[in-house]
Amino acid sequence: MLRTELTEMLGIQHPIVQAGMGPWNTEALAVASANAGALGIVSTSGLAYKMSPPTALEKKEALASTSPYDLLRMTLDWVGERTAEAGGIFGVNIPLAQEFRELTESMIQATSDARNEHSDLADRLKVIVTAAGDPIPWTAPIKESGALWFHVAPSVKHALKGQMAGADVIIASGREGGGHVSFQPVHSMVLLPAVVSAVDLPVVAAGGFCDGGTLVSALAMGAIGVQMGTRFIATQESDFVQVWKDKILDADELGSVVGISVFGPARYLKNKVSLRLHELLNRGFEAGYEEGLDLEGKGIQLSMEGKDTDMTIFFGGEAAGRISEVPTVAELLRDVSSEAERVIERLPGCIASESP
Ligand SMILES: Cc1cc2nc3c(=O)[nH]c(=O)nc-3n(C[C@H](O)[C@H](O)[C@H](O)COP(=O)(O)O)c2cc1C
Repeated sequence: MLRTELTEMLGIQHPIVQAGMGPWNTEALAVASANAGALGIVSTSGLAYKMSPPTALEKKEALASTSPYDLLRMTLDWVGERTAEAGGIFGVNIPLAQEFRELTESMIQATSDARNEHSDLADRLKVIVTAAGDPIPWTAPIKESGALWFHVAPSVKHALKGQMAGADVIIASGREGGGHVSFQPVHSMVLLPAVVSAVDLPVVAAGGFCDGGTLVSALAMGAIGVQMGTRFIATQESDFVQVWKDKILDADELGSVVGISVFGPARYLKNKVSLRLHELLNRGFEAGYEEGLDLEGKGIQLSMEGKDTDMTIFFGGEAAGRISEVPTVAELLRDVSSEAERVIERLPGCIASESP
């Protein structure tokens, strides 16, 4: 069994965070991940922007008339109930976009109230992950929630900002990763050790991690664990549609591309629309923004409906090229951790006992 500062801090079995992947919902994935001994993460942006009805909402047509606060509260109860028996540990992912300040506030409040009103949830809803925005204005409400604060940083500068805001853990997110990425490309192999040496906080690695070998590489570079997104999409229990999982299996290492997205660049699986978003980004973010936003909005809607067209948006990272199976979450976690153990056991053999 692996033991790191992450497993100790959270009381989980595997040093693995299942990434938040809004605006798609990840509640089924969070349940499976938490129950199998990883940190499960509920994505909140689809609930906040009302893009996707949560599983807990019995009448889907009630989406428009239910507040984002209530959507998240019912989702946290839903995940809490299904993870109670196994004692699963989970958290929420909340983007900090300045344009949606009020929604961010209500997502943090819902998490805080869920923890304060249910002692069982306070023990198991342990983490707020924030991303895609300035963390400084959010210190007070996040600290008041009592949850641990993990902040996603795509550069050393952003990591230092997270530390200054009072985050407990930094997630260093390299350019290989699926979904939103930084304007300036820094990949995990350089970003992770740079962040580890720049901050005085524990660091989780994200972007390109998908198996035991890559997990060990993160630990070797000073991380306490990894966050995986693309790898978790292609699991049996994941909330993502089958066609998305198939696209990940079909992709090779060149199967993703960075293009324009609403809050900056994002990494997509390659198809007609993402290649167009890539062209638009090359033209310049401002110049391509209007067309990009329109294409992304329509493409996300198509993916929510499970429609596989040239214009459907599928976020995904370079790691898609390394994924060839759709295991259950428990099988995935068991395989990643046991492969990591085998790699670690093999490594002492790299030290020569005597000079040649
Ligand atoms: C479909 C998808 C949606 C994502 N949405 C979010 C999000 O809402 N918030 C966030 O912090 N990161 C988001 N990400 C990034 C992931 O949380 C994670 O950091 C990333 O997937 C790690 O890289 P990997 O895909 O190589 O594992 C998303 C990634 C994907 C693939």
